[in-house]
Amino acid sequence: MEDYSAEGPTLTPVDLRTLCLSVLKENDRGNHTSPAKLYPHQWLWDSCFVAIGLRHEDPQRAALEVANLVHGQWANGMMPHMIFSKGREYRLEREAWRSWLSPFAPDKLSTSGITQPPVLADAVVKVGAKMNATDRREFYHYMYDPLVAYHTWLYAERDPHKEGLTLQIHPNEVGMDNTPPWVQQLYEHSRPWWIAMIEKLHLDPFINFIRRDTRRVNPGQRISNMEALLLWDVVRRLRRKHYDIDKILHRTLFATEDVMFNSILIRNNTQLHNIASFLKYKLPAELVANMKHTEEAIKELYDTGTKQYYSRDFITHKLIKEPSIGALMPLYAGSISKERAAELVGLLKDHKQFWLHHPVPSVPLSSKYFDAERYWQGPTWVNTNWLIIDGLERYGYKVEAADLRARTIAMVTSAGPYEYFSPIDGKGLGAENFSWTAALTIDLLAQ
Ligand code: GLC
Repeated sequence: MEDYSAEGPTLTPVDLRTLCLSVLKENDRGNHTSPAKLYPHQWLWDSCFVAIGLRHEDPQRAALEVANLVHGQWANGMMPHMIFSKGREYRLEREAWRSWLSPFAPDKLSTSGITQPPVLADAVVKVGAKMNATDRREFYHYMYDPLVAYHTWLYAERDPHKEGLTLQIHPNEVGMDNTPPWVQQLYEHSRPWWIAMIEKLHLDPFINFIRRDTRRVNPGQRISNMEALLLWDVVRRLRRKHYDIDKILHRTLFATEDVMFNSILIRNNTQLHNIASFLKYKLPAELVANMKHTEEAIKELYDTGTKQYYSRDFITHKLIKEPSIGALMPLYAGSISKERAAELVGLLKDHKQFWLHHPVPSVPLSSKYFDAERYWQGPTWVNTNWLIIDGLERYGYKVEAADLRARTIAMVTSAGPYEYFSPIDGKGLGAENFSWTAALTIDLLAQ
């Protein structure tokens, strides 16, 4: 691989697009694109982002990327966050989740037992927009029932008290595995005695057996061994309950109404509406009512004291006031008032928090968790930038959107399509040749 670490932009936009396309080609597995060499398998929101970029080059292949997710969909409507590749070498990963314990899991495939942020409808709309009317109709029609089933499941299973906000049961469901609000929850509510003991006796360096990522990537750029153990333990608990939400919630230690997940849901509800009106189909009335409710309920995640949105603890109903990039995601939702959006733009442009040299860091500089290189505790990610840019555009902040777009492209140009980047010096971190970085860069270049 070439060295992209040199200072300053070294590639023209055309070169950058070619490079990004070659990354997608390298990670192409026929009917899906894996996130990187480090991650085999198909991942839910990764594939949505891949399709959003790939549509500029090959709309049919982009459509296949998201259509393939339907094979993994559970009979109850859930879209799992991972569809495992076949092959003996992945046996342990399939075993870790054992999706076959749930009566709803597909027969012919192994998947995880949780979902990921629902960006699927947005991806479907955007891919369809690149097709002629006949192909678009056919594609939307193919995706319509799975999408309705997915959004219906989100409300039926994940909003049991009809609060308008869906709950998440594992940090991986929000796609930001070690984001501080979740880490705080795990430490507070979900630490079995033996994990506490490992921590007390400082045995965590020996836990490498559950890690594959740190063999390829500098451990200082990944989640810590303690965090990995806690995440693994949550999987174990969910698996033990066969992914039955009633059993899980009956005695759960924690569940969170995540601000980023619910913001993404709001935007994707709107996109599902758009698909339905293109097809002249009528969405189920109950789903429409639930969708409206979420737009209202997101207001409850706003804290007037700090003028910020936070995730909420489903059980105590208290806001989890640990800052993260999630606070900015109501911009992408598109349902908050212009006044609130203006406050969020102010927060985004604050040099002491989010507007660093290479914005937007996954936690603000002022957070006690901030570490420029550690996964979702500081680094800048292209997918969250993309979500913010999309929101800024729709709220009419064209200048801010263009600025963030240019900075994101410049960062990828000089470092290469890495998984994430230091918000301080723009250094590429994590996996190299990362699919959603490549795909979303293609999309940003095309805007
Ligand atoms: C990590 C990320 C998650 C992503 C996955 C595959 O788990 O936190 O958001 O989907 O890797 O790229």
